Amino acid sequence: MSSLADIRSTFLSYFEKQGHAVVPSGPLVPRNDPTLMFTNSGMVQFKNLFTGIETRDYTRATSSQKCVRAGGKHNDLDNVGYTARHHTFFEMLGNFSFGDYFKAEAIAFAWELLTRDFGIDKNRLLVTVYHTDDEAAAIWKKVAGLSDDKIIRIPTDDNFWRMGPTGPCGPCTEIFYDHGEHIWGGPPGSPEEDGDRFIEIWNIVFMQNEQFEDGSMKPLHMQSIDTGMGLERIGALLQGKHDNYDTDLMRALIEASAQATSTDPDGPGNTHHRVIADHLRSTSFLIAEGVLPSNEGRGYVLRRIMRRAMRHAHLLGAKDPVMHRLVPALIQQMGGAYPELGQGKRLIEETLLNEEVRFKQTLDRGLKLLDEEMSHLPEGAELPGQAAFKLYDTYGFPLDLTQDALREQGRAVDTAGFDAAMAEQKAKARAAWSGTGEAADSAVWFDIADKHGTTDFLGYDTLTAEGQIKALVVSGTLADQADADVQIVLNQTPFYAEAGGQVGDAGTLKTDTGTAQITDTRKVAGVYVHFAKVIAGTISTGQGAELSVDPLRRARIMANHSATHLLNEALRERLGDHIAQRGSLNAPDRLRFDFSHTKPLSADELARIEHDVNAVIRQNTPVETRIMTPDDARALGAQALFGEKYGDEVRVVSMGKQAGSGKGTGGDTYSLELCGGTHVKQLGEIGTFVLLGDSASSAGVRRVEALTGEAALDYLREQDARLAQVAATLKAPSSEVADRVRALMDERRALTNEVAQLRRELALGGGAQKAAPVEVINGVPFQAQVLSGVSGKDLPALIDEIKTQMGSGAVLLIADTGGKAAVAVGVTDDLTARVSAVDILRAVTPELGGKGGGGRPDMAQGGGASADNADAAISAAKNVMEGLE
Ligand code: ALA
Repeated sequence: MSSLADIRSTFLSYFEKQGHAVVPSGPLVPRNDPTLMFTNSGMVQFKNLFTGIETRDYTRATSSQKCVRAGGKHNDLDNVGYTARHHTFFEMLGNFSFGDYFKAEAIAFAWELLTRDFGIDKNRLLVTVYHTDDEAAAIWKKVAGLSDDKIIRIPTDDNFWRMGPTGPCGPCTEIFYDHGEHIWGGPPGSPEEDGDRFIEIWNIVFMQNEQFEDGSMKPLHMQSIDTGMGLERIGALLQGKHDNYDTDLMRALIEASAQATSTDPDGPGNTHHRVIADHLRSTSFLIAEGVLPSNEGRGYVLRRIMRRAMRHAHLLGAKDPVMHRLVPALIQQMGGAYPELGQGKRLIEETLLNEEVRFKQTLDRGLKLLDEEMSHLPEGAELPGQAAFKLYDTYGFPLDLTQDALREQGRAVDTAGFDAAMAEQKAKARAAWSGTGEAADSAVWFDIADKHGTTDFLGYDTLTAEGQIKALVVSGTLADQADADVQIVLNQTPFYAEAGGQVGDAGTLKTDTGTAQITDTRKVAGVYVHFAKVIAGTISTGQGAELSVDPLRRARIMANHSATHLLNEALRERLGDHIAQRGSLNAPDRLRFDFSHTKPLSADELARIEHDVNAVIRQNTPVETRIMTPDDARALGAQALFGEKYGDEVRVVSMGKQAGSGKGTGGDTYSLELCGGTHVKQLGEIGTFVLLGDSASSAGVRRVEALTGEAALDYLREQDARLAQVAATLKAPSSEVADRVRALMDERRALTNEVAQLRRELALGGGAQKAAPVEVINGVPFQAQVLSGVSGKDLPALIDEIKTQMGSGAVLLIADTGGKAAVAVGVTDDLTARVSAVDILRAVTPELGGKGGGGRPDMAQGGGASADNADAAISAAKNVMEGLE
């Protein structure tokens, strides 16, 4: 017996031998198709190769693609557990030709693989072809030797495959397996075709047309092949089982479920185990890809699947959460082919556990309410929509969970009543919201959110994606088209909207008819608003658009945001637990962080903090993201913003490990913060961290700014260049610059002193300026002198010196300071009782065009407009002296 893993690898290696590139599965959340909620077939990741928009270095490919069919057009959720072949998650094996081989080879490959490598009995196989496809019928006859009655012509769309309302399409041929007469059912196209006797195992699509929105279809410029074979189906067949859930892989999961709930895998709880096994796969794969439970879009589909599984675990009598305990079994079965499961193990387990813990809190009461409601209803009556809505709104029962619960009793839900109750609640929320006085044009965003739902954010994992333009807003009103400034809303986007200090993304948007430059992204009412300018052509509502976030800008923003987390922690460790974030900015060019602290940081503290952050960056450990309740996050010690309102669930971002600890996670995590932002994958991506110093932001709040990566390096290089310039000017090696500057400063100080001394000497009679004679007036020695080449601030020292020389007396100095006059008067202490320097000064300065001046009795200073009238000024001083008593 071949295991599913063997079958998968046999398939891939068969096509590899036939020259096909083995391409890993594309993501479950398609990056290149905005109309799809989840990838639902192998060709999704190759869509643009069929239409010729894109080429790669191969024209033949093979893959095992993970697919989810829950939500959207293909929704198998309701049937899971109750049928032999429905799954929310399955793997599609496929081979693809992009303008390489066509019908003949595709049919020959399939036939050889099935009958030779897989050893399936030829007599049990039959095929369908599109009714007009004579060519395919002839090839089947030739290649497989099938008789006409085993080549069934089907005129319906069953044999014309389309990926959706638009995109590549073409006629197809399907291969069926006949399980034998003992099972009821008829061949395809017969009235009994829905029976289980003839099972489709492989679909081969001859891609040759492209379907357009207006309903028209045009031939593609090349003919291609797209095939799909469900691994679980072919597995069941090759393992001699009729039921996909009896294959080795599914059986292992069912047994794990039975073990975890201490129940019999084949007992009355078998349906529950099947549901759990299937839902374990879809939920784990979605979480591994970053889809997290929420109340919108993909996150809500995930939540619905999770809760459905959890109700079934509850029905098995499980008291404690079950789902997270099954993850190791899933990884054992599928982790080899899909390494993302092993890498995401912790995230998957924690997300499942949190959801189950939370849901269990209301599950019992909800089920009780449901029982009560039903006890009042007549037999077979529908559950009123209001009751289903209450279960949804108060107890967290998604509608399909209630439907699933009622199904066991053959009852349905009044879905119209449910929708009406939901609409009423939305209207109330809206009325409450418009009352908050938000921006004037906010109503338009609310209308958009109402009509189109909130925007799905894809930007944690990808920087490029396709989105569908849902609305264009030009000057505050909705528009069908735009060719200049516009605000754009799409159903999904990789652009991060400004939040938590992280600036909004910028980049480009391209449609078939135009290109727009996106300069900023913000979130209003759950809708991502892209601020843009159309720079070529026009763009229109309803168009598909290729979105690309400017990768370099985003990388810089992420480096700064991650560094901010490390800085926050380093500050707390160095300065104390009182440090709390008061604001932050994570822009492409720098980061800024405000925090509560009353003192400026010393140079030593700044150096230590910078050192700590860089040491954690060098650990280069992966940055981990988890989802939990705010309470759990706080219990773990996560830093949360004070006063911030958090929802039911929060993202917790952890980085680095404490110095000296062995592991990178758990209690020894360096930084643990609640954060919805985007971060580097490995800390090493931050590169270098340079702290630019701190300043006061407001009372009790300090602000630091820092640079990372290339900006930090540029800054350091610039600093270095400046130092080199100084060194070159000094003609000294840069290592000696500090000593040399210090020596120069000392020298300068000595020279300044010397100059002052020389000036004084000069003024006092040295050089050309002769000292004035001392006159004795009224018994007081008086000396007056006009000086040049000295400044006003030299005068007091000169006055002191002259006073010392005189021993007793008064002195007047008038300095011609180049257009102006500076005046100083000194009186020795023994005479200040008789004459005040201030009095003399006041007599002098008016003669020089000045106004008084001031000082003490022993020393006064003032100024004038010019020293031209120095003689008159000296006479005025002498007059004062003569008038002395
Ligand atoms: N894309 C084709 C299918 O899903 C093969 O059936």
